[in-house]
Amino acid sequence: MDKNLHELCGDNVNWLDGKRFSQNAGDEEIREWISGLELYADEVGKFDFENKRVLLNSGYYMPIVGLGTYALDYDVCVNSVNALLENGGRLIDTASVYHTEKSVGDAIHSSDIPREEIFVTTKLYPNQFSDPVKAIEESLEALDIEYIDLLMLHHPGKNDVEAYKAIEQAVRDGKVRSIGLSNWYVEELEEFLPQIEIMPSVVQNEIHPYYQENDVIPYIQDLGIVVEGWYPFGGRGHTKEMLSDSVISEIAEKHDVSSAQVILRWNLQRGAVVIPGSDNPEHIKENLDVFGFELTDDEMKRIESLDRDEKHDWY
Ligand SMILES: NC(=O)c1ccc[n+]([C@@H]2O[C@H](COP(=O)([O-])OP(=O)(O)OC[C@H]3O[C@@H](n4cnc5c(N)ncnc54)[C@H](OP(=O)(O)O)[C@@H]3O)[C@@H](O)[C@H]2O)c1
Repeated sequence: MDKNLHELCGDNVNWLDGKRFSQNAGDEEIREWISGLELYADEVGKFDFENKRVLLNSGYYMPIVGLGTYALDYDVCVNSVNALLENGGRLIDTASVYHTEKSVGDAIHSSDIPREEIFVTTKLYPNQFSDPVKAIEESLEALDIEYIDLLMLHHPGKNDVEAYKAIEQAVRDGKVRSIGLSNWYVEELEEFLPQIEIMPSVVQNEIHPYYQENDVIPYIQDLGIVVEGWYPFGGRGHTKEMLSDSVISEIAEKHDVSSAQVILRWNLQRGAVVIPGSDNPEHIKENLDVFGFELTDDEMKRIESLDRDEKHDWY
């Protein structure tokens, strides 16, 4: 196998189990598969704006714009996921601690979009790390969507290595496709990664114009791991200030788009997947519509200058 690809994918190469390659393949198919892998190696981690997706080191594609479901009640969450799916969005972020897994699963069931076109992320909370096998089963049951596309540890915490290893086993068992870490920064990653076997595919951290993580993002990306940002608009209670920021509003006016769209596009252009939260179908539609304009280098730099290292939540 190509060395570069091996380094990127490591033991993650569960492409064997996926649709690219059948277990009983003959030599010809295997050769084709290997050349396919080498072709795909260059794609890992690169944002494909045309198809609105990125190839993870696990061999699966992940959409780069989605919906966050934190703080959405059952009916509201079902409506929001419906709005996302109806408008072409395919990435949904939930977590056991948000209590939205069931509503996400129910909305997916009620849509006629094939399961494999939808990408669902969920997370195990630290208070579940002492019995991760049970926690994984609970998430699978609440979602009821056959498999979890991306399962993350929500925060570092006691027994996190053991919990991660349980997810690795769930990958081998076909219950989970890719693994992620949330709220892991450089120091935490340096300590954690040598203790596990399957490289995480995604790290999800707080990222917005007032808290940009300019040092952390390249560190993560250089490991072949995709970065995803939470609180793209600063989180509830902060969105008004961020969306009316004069620099962002001015850029938005120039492109005839909203401030929210500028912030999402800025994230995408620096290689951060976005999962804005919303219970408003118009906002959900607007948030998906970020592929018809491009920010200039100067505009990217102007937004970069807004960084205040201002974290909006404790983790
Ligand atoms: N891993 C972690 O530790 C962690 C932590 C926090 C969050 N998250 C994830 O990240 C997601 C995003 O965070 P969040 O939802 O808390 O905060 P957010 O996305 O920064 O902000 C959500 C707020 O923005 C508003 N909004 C959304 N689209 C808008 C638009 N186009 N125009 C104007 N306002 C708009 C929403 O109001 P409307 O409802 O009116 O649209 C809502 O009040 C969460 O849902 C969750 O999935 C992860």
